[in-house]
Amino acid sequence: MKTLAELRSRRWFADQGMRGFAHRQRMQQQGVRREDLMDRPMVAIINTWSDLSPCHAHLRERAQAVKRGILLAGGFPVELPAMSLGEVMVKPTTMLYRNFLAMEVEELLRSLPCDGVVLLAGCDKTTPGTVMGAMSMDIPTVFCPAGPMLNDRVVKGGVTRTVGAGTHTRMYWDEYQAGHLGADELQRLESRMTRAPGTCNTMGTASTMTSIVEALGLTLPGASAIPAMDSAHTRMATDCGQRIVEMVWEDLKPSRLLTRGSFTNAMAVQMALGGSTNAAVHIIAMARRVGITLTIDDLDAMARRVPVLANLFPSGDRLMEDFYYAGGLPALMQVIRAELSIGEMTANGKTVGDNIALAEVLDPEVIRPLDKPVSNAGALAALHGNLAPFGAVIKPSAASERLMRHTGRALVFDSQPEMLTAMADPLLDCDENTVLVLRNAGPVGAPGMPEWGNLPIPKKLLQAGVRDMLRMSDARMSGTHYGTCVLHISPESAVGGPLALVHTGDLIELDVAQRRLHLQVSDEELARRRTAWSAPVQPFRRGYTKLYQAHVTQAHEGCDFDFLQGTEPTPEPAIY
Ligand code: FES
Repeated sequence: MKTLAELRSRRWFADQGMRGFAHRQRMQQQGVRREDLMDRPMVAIINTWSDLSPCHAHLRERAQAVKRGILLAGGFPVELPAMSLGEVMVKPTTMLYRNFLAMEVEELLRSLPCDGVVLLAGCDKTTPGTVMGAMSMDIPTVFCPAGPMLNDRVVKGGVTRTVGAGTHTRMYWDEYQAGHLGADELQRLESRMTRAPGTCNTMGTASTMTSIVEALGLTLPGASAIPAMDSAHTRMATDCGQRIVEMVWEDLKPSRLLTRGSFTNAMAVQMALGGSTNAAVHIIAMARRVGITLTIDDLDAMARRVPVLANLFPSGDRLMEDFYYAGGLPALMQVIRAELSIGEMTANGKTVGDNIALAEVLDPEVIRPLDKPVSNAGALAALHGNLAPFGAVIKPSAASERLMRHTGRALVFDSQPEMLTAMADPLLDCDENTVLVLRNAGPVGAPGMPEWGNLPIPKKLLQAGVRDMLRMSDARMSGTHYGTCVLHISPESAVGGPLALVHTGDLIELDVAQRRLHLQVSDEELARRRTAWSAPVQPFRRGYTKLYQAHVTQAHEGCDFDFLQGTEPTPEPAIY
């Protein structure tokens, strides 16, 4: 147990010199009583709310609930705003700013008198961003997930369909492009599909990452599936506030919670959920922050053992609200208990095994038993070959069986605008067997590795009834999307990866069963092409993007900054 004198915040407020005088003085300036600073831990609430982050629209209210819990437990809450990465609004991509948010969180916590932290986040990159920062700062941490939005229903021709964000956006857009959906209907969907605050309600990146963080033991049990607009969500936020104060006294910080077993649990959960391929990048980056080396082959090995059991879009046909009613993550973890390291300690001071002991599946159609999986194809496969020397990933459970073994002629695009223009061309030279290739879309090349990997189907093929093709890139794909998309090709083309050497007309071979991705071009010809290749000219001469391009690691390494990885301690700030 920690004593009052050992708290970080005492360095600011118990100091008997002029600095301590000024710190106490300035807190009283804003109406805080002197005595409230002197005998209790100061707990930060990192809040990623903003008016342009609709998934986090409720987080100012939730911060009040967290504060209530902190005060009830004898702590002093301080709310600190951090960069809000609303997935849909932020351009060119939130991934460009994940490391920015991680740095901001780490440095906010280091530079201010914080004894512990509650992280309020949930929209895609905000979860790994805030968690990576807190891991590196290594003070007691509870993650309070924003929670998924509510479902909506569409009634058409007497048939009721449940709809949600992400997966259905692409699905209905394709139907509109194909002429099967009218403009009026599309406009009605625009106002209904995301009908309440909260994160995307498919098993996209948001729910994948909040579930992974729950599996790591950094949330309270069951927190990640609670719908944002459920009153249980507010109560959970208060519980987070109450618990973090206890954790401060217990000095229960990430380095005491996170082990290789914690990450084994996170990987198992990702696979059982049919989670987003984006997790392959984030989980590796998070592990490296605490000195644990994971590879995409570790993820592949877990995907071979754990089938997709959560019947959630895009691998299944239900939404997060259904998952919550079915028992949420503790129930799913109970089903895959044999694959878990159940002795790992979690934020509530109990082990994973303790937390899931009483969990049960309440709807076996949503959380399937092991003998009735949603898919045996696996939520992730790691591919290797001459086109991806350091690897690439694919999500077989959301792909087409017919394309799992496929050889086709490449149609190559050097940029996203070029590709989008071509997709609308009625004379585009392609058919359903063509392999669409996009490059210069990786961490350095795009920059920021945007979610361009789910290349749209050419309009002329959509109208002919084609709904999937083999697509490949050094980009990522939204976790809410589906299709046969080879992603995260590493090294990326902009740094000279073999993807840079593909020509339109080359044959590309994919064999998921063999984990093989092969460009059918001789080594001699590739060497000849390499001598003629030069790196694309980058227009970023200053600022954050220049820093990003200079220091971002490749997809198989987690796309963290090279100088942020590892556990080398940063000295506490001097207080003079
Ligand atoms: Fe925020 Fe999907 S856009 S979670």
